[in-house]
Formats: sequence, C-alpha cells, structure tokens
Amino acid sequence: MKKQLVYICLLVFITVTQNKLYANEPDSAYLFAYSSGKNNHHNGLHFAWSMDKKKWHSIGPESSFLRSDYGQWGTQKKMIDPFLFLSPTGTWHCVWSLNQEDGAFAHSESRDLIHWESQSYPLVFPSGNCLSPIINYQKNTGVYQVIWKTDRPSIGNYAVETKDFKLFSATTKVMQEQHAKEQVRLSDGTYPGTVHKVAWGTIEKLLKKQQLDAYKGKLNQERMADDGTRFASLTAIKGKLKLDEHMPDRAISDLLIGAFFEDINYAADGGLYAELIQNRGFEYTSKDRKEWNSLTAWSATDDGAVLVIDTILPIHQHNQHYVTMKVKDGAGIVNEGFGGIAIKKGEQYKFSVYSRAKSAQLGQLLIRLIDRDGNTIAETRTKKLSKKWQQYTLPMLANASVSDARLVITYSQDGTVDLDMVSLFPKNTFHHRENGLRADLATTIADMKPRFVRFPGGCVAHGDGLENIYHWKNTIGPVEQRKPQRNLWGYHQSFGLGYFEYFQFCEDLGAEPVPVVAAGVPCQNSAHHGHKLGGQQCGIPMEEMGHYVQDILDLIEYANGDVHTGWGKKRAEAGHPAPFNLKYIGIGNEDLITDIFKERFTMIYEAIKKKYPQIEVIGTAGPFYEGSDYVAGWDLATKLEVPLIDEHYYNPPGWFIHNQDFYDRYDRSKSKVYLGEYAAHLPDRASTIETALAEALHLCNVERNADVVTMTSYAPLLAKEGNTQWSPDLIYFNNTTVKPTVGYYIQQAFGQHAGQTYLFSDLQLSNQDEAVNKRIGKSIVRDAKTGDIIVKLVNLLPVEVDLELDLSAIGIRKQEVKATVIAGKPTDRTARPVAATLELDRCKLSPYSFTVFRIPAQK
Ligand code: AHR
Repeated sequence: MKKQLVYICLLVFITVTQNKLYANEPDSAYLFAYSSGKNNHHNGLHFAWSMDKKKWHSIGPESSFLRSDYGQWGTQKKMIDPFLFLSPTGTWHCVWSLNQEDGAFAHSESRDLIHWESQSYPLVFPSGNCLSPIINYQKNTGVYQVIWKTDRPSIGNYAVETKDFKLFSATTKVMQEQHAKEQVRLSDGTYPGTVHKVAWGTIEKLLKKQQLDAYKGKLNQERMADDGTRFASLTAIKGKLKLDEHMPDRAISDLLIGAFFEDINYAADGGLYAELIQNRGFEYTSKDRKEWNSLTAWSATDDGAVLVIDTILPIHQHNQHYVTMKVKDGAGIVNEGFGGIAIKKGEQYKFSVYSRAKSAQLGQLLIRLIDRDGNTIAETRTKKLSKKWQQYTLPMLANASVSDARLVITYSQDGTVDLDMVSLFPKNTFHHRENGLRADLATTIADMKPRFVRFPGGCVAHGDGLENIYHWKNTIGPVEQRKPQRNLWGYHQSFGLGYFEYFQFCEDLGAEPVPVVAAGVPCQNSAHHGHKLGGQQCGIPMEEMGHYVQDILDLIEYANGDVHTGWGKKRAEAGHPAPFNLKYIGIGNEDLITDIFKERFTMIYEAIKKKYPQIEVIGTAGPFYEGSDYVAGWDLATKLEVPLIDEHYYNPPGWFIHNQDFYDRYDRSKSKVYLGEYAAHLPDRASTIETALAEALHLCNVERNADVVTMTSYAPLLAKEGNTQWSPDLIYFNNTTVKPTVGYYIQQAFGQHAGQTYLFSDLQLSNQDEAVNKRIGKSIVRDAKTGDIIVKLVNLLPVEVDLELDLSAIGIRKQEVKATVIAGKPTDRTARPVAATLELDRCKLSPYSFTVFRIPAQK
C-alpha cells in the first residue's frame, strides 16, 4: 500500500513537472490590474506582473481581459478606474466607473480573471455621478461595501452594501476616505490600479490566454492579398473527393437558408416598401434626424403656396400632422420622393390622398408627375373636394420613363386645403399586393429561395431605448392609423411595411415567418433618451411586463388565431382570414445577458410555452461567437430547454478559414442553432470574391452540421445606395436598379440548391500542407424531392485544383455535368455566376472559385 502511494506521488510529480513550461517558476508573483485610459480609450482591464513590485511586465499591453459593455458605442463603453477585488471564496470582483454623469457603477465577476460573468450596472445614486468605485469587505458579516466619490468633493463619499452584487442596500453617505490606488510604472506610463499577490499559475494562465488570443488574431487576419507570398511556390494541385462510406448520412434542416430583413439602410421606406412619396403623413420630426421636420421632402411650388403644419382634428390620433396649403392662383406642394421618384413609361400608378377643403368655393386637386424640366409625365385630378376628411384614390399612367420625377399637387381654387397621407404606388407591386412591395427587389429576394424570413431586425426589433422598442401592434391596420416611430439607424419608420405585410411577404415567398420581438429590454447599446441609464435602461418595468407578455401572445393569436377571436379577426379584416401558420418566434436580439434580461426572457418564454407549446421559441446568445453573453445566453437556453438559439457574428475571412470545425464540436443534445446574423467582413467592408468565398466555405461546413445549425441568414439584406449605415450588405439598390453582391449569388446558390441529406466525403489533395487543405471547401447533399445529388466546391486558393470525384458508392458513374461557377480575383466585386461544363473525374476548379452542380437522380 505504502509502495503504491509512493508510486502515485511520483507519477503526479512527473506529470506536474512535465506540464511545466519552464524549470524554475515561482510559487507566486504580483498582479497589477488597471485600465490605461490612454488616448481616452479606457478600453478595458489590463494586467501586468512582477516578482518584486518594482520591475513590471505587461501581459500584452493592448490585451483587454474585460471590456465595459455599457451604453452607446463611441461615447460610452468605457472602463474608467477599474477596481479589482478577490473575495475570500476565490471570486474576483471588478467594479468600475461608467462616465462622469450616470449614477451607476459597473460590476462583473470571474473565477479565473479570464471568463467574466455578464455585467451589471446597479443604479445606486440616481441624482449624481459615481466615480472611482472601490470594494471593501467586512469579514464578520460577509458584506461587501462599494464606496465611490462624486465630482463634488465637498459632498464626500457614498456607499452601498451587498452580499451578492445583485441586491444592494440604499445609498448612504460615508465618512471613510477612499484608499488610494497604487501607482505602477509600466514601460508606456504610470497607471493607478490594484496590486494582488497571486499564485504563479494565475499569471501563467493570463499569459497563455494572451498568447492564444494573439495567435488566433493572426489566423483571423489571414488575407488573400498575401496569398502571393503565402503560396509563392504553389502550383496547380490535384485531388480526389470520394464519398465516405463509414459515416452515416446526416439530415439537413429544411429551413437552412433564410433571409434576414431589417429596416436598416433604408430597407423599408424608400426601399422594399413600394411607396414612392417620402414623408407622406408629414410625421417626420427632428427626433428621426436632427435636420428633419414635418415638411422634409416637401416644398411649395414656385408660385408660392403657403404651407403650414397643423394638428387640429387630424385623420387619426396616431397621425397627428397634416399640411394646410394656403393657395392662390393654382399654387401647390411638391414631393421629391426618396431622392427622386422613379417612373416607368406605360406603367400604372395608384395615387391617393386624404384631403379637406376649407375654401368657400370647393375646388379640385390637380396631381401631376413632372420631370426636372417641368414636363408632365402623368396627371390626374380629384372631383370637387369635401369639407370633411376624405380619401381620394386615382390611377395615373406614365407617358415617359424618368428616374427622378416630382409629384406636384395644386388646388383649382384660391383658398385653404388640408392634405395628409399623400401616396403613390406602382400598380405592379410584388404579387400585385395593395400597399405592396417593390417588385424588382422582392423578386431578387425570392430568387434566393429563402425558407424563412426573419423580421423586423436586428437592433430595430429591440430598439434604441425603452420608448423605441418595436411594438407590432403599432404597425398593423389601415396605414393612416399606424403609429410611426424613429428608426434607430437615424431615420423614420412609417410602418407602412408592418407585421401584416411581413407575414404576407413570407407567404408570397413560400417562406416561414420568423418575427423577432424584444425580450423586454432595449438594445444594450441604447443612448439615454431621457432615462437615468443608457443601455438596457433596467428593462420594461416589471409591473408593465404582464402587458408586454400579453402583446407577444396576441401576436401569435394575430398570426394563427381563429377569425372570430379579437386578434385573428383583425388579421381577417386586413384581408387574410386564413392563418399565417406562425411556427417560430425570436425573443431578444443579441442582448447583453443580464439578470434584467434573464428575468424578462424567462417570463416571456414560459408564457409562450404554456399557451402555445407548439411554437418554437428562439433565444439569443449575444453579438459574438464567444464571450460572456455567448456563454450566458447558451446557459440560459440550456437551462430553460429553449428549442433554438440565435447566434450572431461578423468575422474576417480568416476566421471562417480557421474555424471550420466550429459547429462540429457542438453538443447535439442542446438547443439547435439559428445563425441569425453573419457575414465575412474585410477592413474596408467591401463585398468581394474573398468575403463571398469565405461565406461559401462556412455554409459548406454548416451543411455538414445542419443537424445542429438548422437556420441561417446573412445580414443585413438590403442597402440603398447613399443611405447605408452598415456594410457590406447582400443587395444594394437605388430607385431604379437592383445590384446584388457576389455574396448574394452564394446565398442564392445555397438556397436554390439546398438538400435534405448530407453525404460525408473525404478529400485527398496532392499537397499535404494544412494551409492549402484549409482553402478547399466541399459539401455533397441529396435533394429529397428530386433525388438529385448536389455538389458544392469552394476553392480559396490562387491555383487551379483538378479534382476527381468518385461517387461510385451511390452508383453515380463518370459523366459530364452542367455547373454554375462564380470566380474572380479576391478583390473582385462584380463576379457573377456563369455556366460551365465539367467532367466528374476531372473537375477543374478555377482559382478563387465557387462551383455548384446537380447530378440528376440515377434511374
Ligand atoms: O445587421 C446589422 C446589425 O448588426 C443588427 O441590427 C444587429 O442585430 C447587429 O449588431
């Protein structure tokens, strides 16, 4: 027994010493925690170590082990004066100051200084600021005291007490002086911070983490621009792709390729929504955009009508503003559309307006579409106006094509007339819907064959502040009764494209509707907008949550309910008695997973599960593929057994090349993944062959893992030239032309050539180099309907790859196939799919190319 013990001890000793990187490491050292505040960056918690507290070594001076996620990008998200504290139970607590104004500090905790829990921002001093917080611990009571200063030293210091950093006592005034932080001299300056004696292992882990991050960062930066050097000696390579008979086939979800629609970049008003009149309801305000008002996009005709905005007796309380035109000698008002009105010769348009005459003599409205030279392209007139609000609807036929027409409305009498909801739609909308969508744009989306459409966002769904949360009920019913709202991307949402139109669009596309609603919290990047806090602003108050949850249940009822029930009836009144068959609903959008979020998400989730157990709820896992929100979002989804979870990441092409096994490691028994937002991003944010091939590579790897990743959508979908807040986007457009990107054609290829079964295969290349092998993507799937075998191949190399395809295991003989190829230089932004003929046993893949072909089912 004794002998055995000695043996075990020896074994442990050998293992431990062998694992050590260096022979002579100390037991402990000093750790310095600080935030540099250099260039006013305050970009997170940095560490340095020392053996003697004299000579300090930075742990990657630019590496932040914890960053503040409070409030708006740009002006906020600062970690000022962090204070690190080790509790007796071994938990590290970090508190820091957010800024000079808000009466809150920030807190996060960690067991290892590497993985940090979600942050919280306790509102502790509503009327003042909260500077340089520190933590004291009272051993006998187990109570932590957070003490801070204000910017008025005469007031003194304040404190709150807590046992768990979740519940806090009321704020009290304290006499106690804050102890000064230590000043430590590093190679780039002297900084205040906290010094801790820690086991050497702690420092070693931080060093390794920093090295690993630096290494990963390097991999992520792999760019095709460097391929000339990277693959200098590489010549054309050969390869053999053979089905792997040892691996059983895998089911692929039927919903794999979808579309992400958000009203960003003028995607809705001025975009997909076919309305041609801008600010038709005179509801623009300076809240939408500083320089905007009710008359934005409107002007008086040269002969001088006087335009006044009024709100007395409007057509509807949600649409309070209208224009009063004081007219003399046939003057009137002009609308410039969204950067001009694009009109096509021979096309019919539907004009409508609400009007009310105030003149003694009732006159008519004359409506004209004119070009820049004043030539009339189309005209019509109303009958004599009424003295009460009345809607006038008239057809107009265009006699010429003009890309930037204007709409002119004049009045035949001298006098006063009110106008509101001035509207002009092409008759030819997508599927000829009333209040419909721009046919060319909608058709381009339809051509992707999306299996679902997510809407209305993105950040638009949870909004910039509590008052900006997207409420679906404001977006249905007659358009003049909808409640417009500021768009957080810096413009206006008329909600002409609202929930009814979204559902109808999905139906017209044959796609599942996937609405996403806020989880009771606005975007974590929200500005204050009059609230004490920015960010999540403490969420919808709990006493209002019951009402909010009911709104979400009503949405399901609106989509699916019986025509006799309240909300089902409203759907029927809108012209759709049949249910929309809603099956999925997203709760939250890449939120910060705070306790505030968790409480509200759980409440909504449980309510839906109880009332509509058949509805699949989609949870959310933050805006990145790692980090505290990703982990906490997943933990919550696992705990609650949420069926699906929404992941988001925008990464450089190198990330997609070096993370091809990202989903292979996912536990199949947990929630399924909806990859709701992703794209390959280059520093200049262009959409090129390089980004498109990285996305194609990722989709090949996703198809292999489509048992766990059941839905994907590239984001964002649409962008109007000259009005973009985000790039790259999948489809650019202006008033006359649709301009799909290279990335669009990749999505289209995966949408049009989706399969239901994944067939595993082995690729053997003549070149064994890992860097080379990582640049080839492949996916072989079977289309259940046709029995076709679909092959997708991605070559991200600068050389041709000559591939022999062996599909004999499923009885496919060598043959010629008709393929679609997208190829070009990595920087190419204009590559388009071209047809090609390939031999199965000699598939030549051009440098930097994507190839897809179908092999018809063997008879
Ligand atoms: O896709 C654009 C934005 O990216 C979305 O609104 C948001 O969810 C993400 O940060």
